[in-house]
Parts: sequence; C-alpha cells; structure tokens
Amino acid sequence: MFIVFKVFESRRRRRGLAYPPGPRPLPVVGNLFDIPPQYSWKAYAEWAKIYGNHTISLTALGKVIVVLNSYKAAKDLLEKRSGIYSARPSMPFHELMEWGWIVPLSRYDDAWRAKRKILDHGMRPNAAVQYQPMQKMKAHDFLKHLASSPEKFREHITHFQGAIIMSSVYGYDVSEHGDKYLGAANEMNDLGVRTMLPGALFVNDLPILKYLPEWLPGMGFKELARQGRRLADEVRYAPFEFVKNGMHTGTARPSITLANLEQIEDIDSPESARALELIAEASGSLYSAGADTTVSTLASFFLMLAQYPDIQEKAQAEVDAVTRRERLPDYSDRPRLPYIDAICKELLRWRVVTPIGLPHAAMQDDEYNGYFIPKGQCSSTAILHDPSVYPDPETFRPERFLTEDGNVKDDVMLSAVFGFGKRVCPGRHLVDTTLFIFVTSVLSVFTVAKAKDAQGNEIPVDCVSNTSTLISYPEPFKCSITPRDSKAEQLIAGL
Ligand code: HEM
Repeated sequence: MFIVFKVFESRRRRRGLAYPPGPRPLPVVGNLFDIPPQYSWKAYAEWAKIYGNHTISLTALGKVIVVLNSYKAAKDLLEKRSGIYSARPSMPFHELMEWGWIVPLSRYDDAWRAKRKILDHGMRPNAAVQYQPMQKMKAHDFLKHLASSPEKFREHITHFQGAIIMSSVYGYDVSEHGDKYLGAANEMNDLGVRTMLPGALFVNDLPILKYLPEWLPGMGFKELARQGRRLADEVRYAPFEFVKNGMHTGTARPSITLANLEQIEDIDSPESARALELIAEASGSLYSAGADTTVSTLASFFLMLAQYPDIQEKAQAEVDAVTRRERLPDYSDRPRLPYIDAICKELLRWRVVTPIGLPHAAMQDDEYNGYFIPKGQCSSTAILHDPSVYPDPETFRPERFLTEDGNVKDDVMLSAVFGFGKRVCPGRHLVDTTLFIFVTSVLSVFTVAKAKDAQGNEIPVDCVSNTSTLISYPEPFKCSITPRDSKAEQLIAGL
C-alpha cells in the first residue's frame, strides 16, 4: 500500500515529524532514478522489507511518496480515517480532457457523493442478483465463441465483459462486431491507459505546458486531449440516451441506469436536468472502470488452467459431481462448489489487477505511527503477495481459501483487491458473480492446456509477469482450448 504527496512540506508544517523511512534521496531529483519506470511496485515491496513493514517514503521532483505496505496501515488510514484520505490526486492531462466527471478519477466532493449513491444503489448485492440470468446467458455466448475460434480467446473475453457491462448498466445487448457504443468506450479506455502511466506525458509532471501554444513541438497532447473530450462525451451520453428513449417507448430493460432514472418523478422536466446528468456520469464511468479490470482476471484464469492441469482436473471433478455433465452449471450450484469459489478468490489474489491501486490523496496533513503523512495513493500488491500471510505468493493455490474440511474460508485481507474506505470498488459484487459463472461454465465443457510448437513441444506460459500498467494484464500467451469430449460438444451445440 502506498501514498504519494505533492510537495515537500516544511519542517515547521511537519511539526518536527519525519516522513516515513525510505531509500536516501539525491538533492533535487530525490529518488527519481531509484524508482524503476517498469514494475515500480516490485521495488516498493523490496524497500518495504528494508525500511519498514507498514509505511515507507520516497521523494521525486518535489513529490513525496508514502507507501502503505500492510493491510493494517491501509485500513488505519484509508478506511478508519477515510474522511481525510478519500480524495484523488489531480492529473493535469485528465483535467485537459475534462474527465473529472468519471467516478474513479473524480474529486471527493458532493457530485462524487451523489454518483456513488447512484452506483451503490444500482450495484448493491440485492440489485446485482437480477443480472445473474443475463450473466449466465453471456457466459453461454462466450462458450459458443470459444468453441468456434479458441485462438481468439482474449478477444472473446473482452467481448463477454463488454456485453455484461453494457447489459447491466444500460440493458443494451452489444452486437457481435463493430458495436456502436463499444468502439468509443474501448478507444477511451486505451487513451486512459496510455496517458495515465507515470512518465507517459510530460504535462502531468509540468502542468505549465498546458498554457503553451499548440504549434510548439511536443504539444501533441493537446490534440489527444480533444480526442479524449469527444470520446468521453460519446461514452457518457449515447448509451444513456438509449435508456431514456427506451423509457419513453416502454422498451427499456432493467439496468443500473433505468433503476436510477425510475426514481426521478419526471425525467423530462427541466428541474430534473442535474439529476439526469449525475446518472449519465455515474453510468458512463462503469465501462472504463469495470471492463479492463475484469478482463485481466478472466485472462489470468486461462493462464492458470494452462499452467496447473491438476487444479483444472480437480475443479472439473467438483463441477461434474454437481451437474452430472447433463447440463451447464448455474448460480444455484454455488453452495456445492467450494473449490470453484476458492479458485475465484485465488484468481483475484494471484495476479493483482491494480498493482499500485488507484491513488488516494489526503485532504489534510496527518500523522501515523509518529511519521508525517500529507497526501497519497495506495497499492495492494504488497498485501496480497505478503509471504507471511500468503506463503509462496506467486504459486496459484486455491487451498489458501479453504478450511481443512473443504469449506470456503473468509479472508478479510482479500478485500484489498477492491481498495479501501469510501472509494472501495462498487463493482465488486458484479465481479463476484461474473467470475463464478465464467469459471464454472468454462470448466464444465473445455480443457485448457499449454499450446504445442511445430515439434510437439509444449510452449511455456509466463505466470510471473503481468504488464507494467495501471491495470495490469497477463502478457499475451498461447494455449490450447478444446471441448473436453463429445458430451461437452453436445452441451455447447445445445446452447
Ligand atoms: C476484477 C475486477 C475489478 C477489480 C480488481 C477492481 C478494483 C478496483 C480498485 C482497486 C478500485 C479503487 C478503490 C480505491 O480507490 O480504494 C476500484 C474502483 C472502482 N471500480 Fe473496480 N474493480 C474491478 C471491477 C469493477 C467493475 C466490474 C466495475 C463496474 C462495472 C467497477 C467499478 C469501479 C468504480 C466506479 C470505481 C471507482 C470508485 C470511486 O472512486 O469511488 N470495478 N476498483
């Protein structure tokens, strides 16, 4: 877990308190050259071992970075003191693109509170239950796609998750190819991923560049910002209008957007304009927050299956015992599938999707364990790969989440996957049900193995390195995906 601060605080302001310990900084540049541009979280974890278990600090060009390395520190600050730690640090390029309305990026203000209420209402566990039949249907579509072109499994995963989000958020069924809404949404996500990485754009470190004329060299970010604004408008309003029109014609299907719009007495009255805008913004935030994140975990599932055939066999045996291979699994089977549940939990822990979390910024100076803390962001890698809590953390082992008699264990630390405090991920219940139906459905009819080269040798898969991006993915890998047998083929053909 870690926190980043913007400016050097004066000694007086720090009341003589030191920043948490960390590697010795150089004058002016601080630890800038110590922080690796790739996989910075691995360095944070190493420094934690040297300088302290709970918090460490680094400096870089006038910023102070405080790393929260333990579940306890993250809970203590981000949850118990969430009144202070729920802001996000500003990012000049996002301001240029006017992306402040997007919930994960937005300030901690009244508009954010209103949007969180909208999301928490639409995505609470009781509300999420109604999307299960749709999730099951999309999982079946995925199986059919996988059977027809298994080599495109990553594309199919992206399509599957896009379909789940657009259906639960807008009651909209995406088309197989070239969907009118997904194009802009994916372009916007790509732009976000490319420009959010530390060091990706100078303007993030030198905001003054915003004010320079566009004809100067290096000002290409201004055109990118215009693209970002255009895409964001499309993502925010186009599918929202689809739901509104559906309300007028009586064709709108249950969705997070509809559930919130239905609470408004007259959606056409001018007095409702602000409420509508907040719903459009809350809903418009969900594709960017929920697509790539879940896709990463689903891709890790295939990676795991290729690497661990014994786990695959054991999981298939558990599913088969329940379905007798006469049908595909359903949500009602879940209580009898503890090993599958443990696999879902371990998937979230094994390849952490957001290795440095999403930045939290403190709104006022603070003190923790005798150290001065000004502002910050948090990472969950150190927690979920802490060998004292999860021995041999790089190994996929579902048993971590099972009791000795095979029941699913409650593991509070796993919640770190979804962040802390008031900014905790509102999509976590949807992730839980998506993961379950996806994992069981695939296991019931397919076998995944390592791909073979022309000589018949197995091609190894890389189970260690995910991409070094804010949302981290398994690097591209090949695997062999085949229906388990003729029974499986029949089940797929019957879909
Ligand atoms: C495996 C999948 C996912 C993971 C690992 C994940 C993880 C996270 C994390 C770590 C945060 C930051 C929490 C913090 O700041 O402390 C977050 C925020 C958020 N997530 Fe997720 N998420 C996932 C899927 C989803 C889905 C499916 C949705 C919605 C459809 C979603 C919507 C959001 C939103 C809107 C926020 C911003 C919350 C705020 O700033 O108030 N996430 N997520």
